[in-house]
Amino acid sequence: MTASDQATAAGPADTADDAFRSVHDRAPAGVWSAPGRVNLIGEHTDYNDGFVLPFALPHRLAAAAAPREDGKLTFATVGSDGRVHTGAPVAVSDLRPGTPDGWSGYPAGVAWVLREAGIGGGAETDGWTVDRGADLVIAGDVPTGAGLSSSAAIECATAMALLGLAGEHDQQAARRAEIARWAQRAENEFVGVPTGSLDQTASMCCVDGHVLFLDCRSGDTEQVPFNATGAGLSVLVIDTQVKHSLGGSEYGDRRAGTEKAARLLGLPALRDVTPDTLDDALDRLPADLVPLVRHIVTENARVLEASRYLRDGRIADIGPVLDASHVSMRDDYRISCPELDLAVDTARTAGALGSRMTGGGFGGSAIALVRENDRHAVEAAVTTAFDTAGYRRPRMFVAVPSAGAGRDR
Ligand code: GLA
Repeated sequence: MTASDQATAAGPADTADDAFRSVHDRAPAGVWSAPGRVNLIGEHTDYNDGFVLPFALPHRLAAAAAPREDGKLTFATVGSDGRVHTGAPVAVSDLRPGTPDGWSGYPAGVAWVLREAGIGGGAETDGWTVDRGADLVIAGDVPTGAGLSSSAAIECATAMALLGLAGEHDQQAARRAEIARWAQRAENEFVGVPTGSLDQTASMCCVDGHVLFLDCRSGDTEQVPFNATGAGLSVLVIDTQVKHSLGGSEYGDRRAGTEKAARLLGLPALRDVTPDTLDDALDRLPADLVPLVRHIVTENARVLEASRYLRDGRIADIGPVLDASHVSMRDDYRISCPELDLAVDTARTAGALGSRMTGGGFGGSAIALVRENDRHAVEAAVTTAFDTAGYRRPRMFVAVPSAGAGRDR
């Protein structure tokens, strides 16, 4: 059981705070938390310098933390059964990429990055730096392996907590983007998963009631208002419960394929191929790279199209764009799976305005844009279809754009 498998009745911050007190017999210095995300559209475009359009979920991971003075880091997590699982202490000086591995590699990796970045040392916190060590207790309700960025939530909550212990409490936009890059570095270099910047940027930079338009090349962001409820619509998340892991070869293979294509085309990244130059680019590539490139180029165009609709408040109009995105991921990028396809097809047939898988793929979650009046019918149809197919029942919930990482107490 890992930290993010929990569904606790109390909020994540309360749970983390209580567990900290029971494990360490003292109060934490503070509690910080960070959300998971759904990506409305723009999949696998982030590491191609492209565009993405995520929003933060209300589901969060909270880190209760206090400084130590003996150079050790301790991590504990609260399981869904409410039990606290404590890991062995790790010396900050022993942190190396890959050590520790497993779940604690995510918070440990963030400590490693922040140590290298030299944060802390100010008089306000008596010169505390990450080298001195810290106790962290993590609790929350972001589903793991569901394509909803539980890893980024752990990384960003840890980063916020350690920065808080170092006396940094009020991160403005530029600092948030930097923290996201640190969290991404922890995942890439310490945990060893070659992800892009989507998840960590969403967790750090999203704001309540908005989707985040992110240009992954420049790092420029725009908060686009997204009031689906006001339009009588809901974004239904369908977690197929097929566990996905980005540590396997598929994610890295797709990434390597697109990078190879950019090299063959003599371009810095596939971002530099536009719909106008796509046919010419495809003519110059080996057959196996053609569908990968077609997905990235058309997906970037779809993010721009969806963003235009949203800026005009035309939420329902993104439906067909979501549908086209799923077809492209299923047939060209080949990152879907039978359960995701069934969820998407069934949701559409039952009245969804549009539906697509979200996140890294190979399992995890789909989203469906539904009229609120049709939501129960869509949920029932998906449940029946999964039962009939003999698949595990999916978990479904309505996703409302929520706040990015912050301090809870
Ligand atoms: C995962 C990665 C992201 C991104 C998505 C696909 O969530 O962590 O960087 O590549 O897959 O869009």
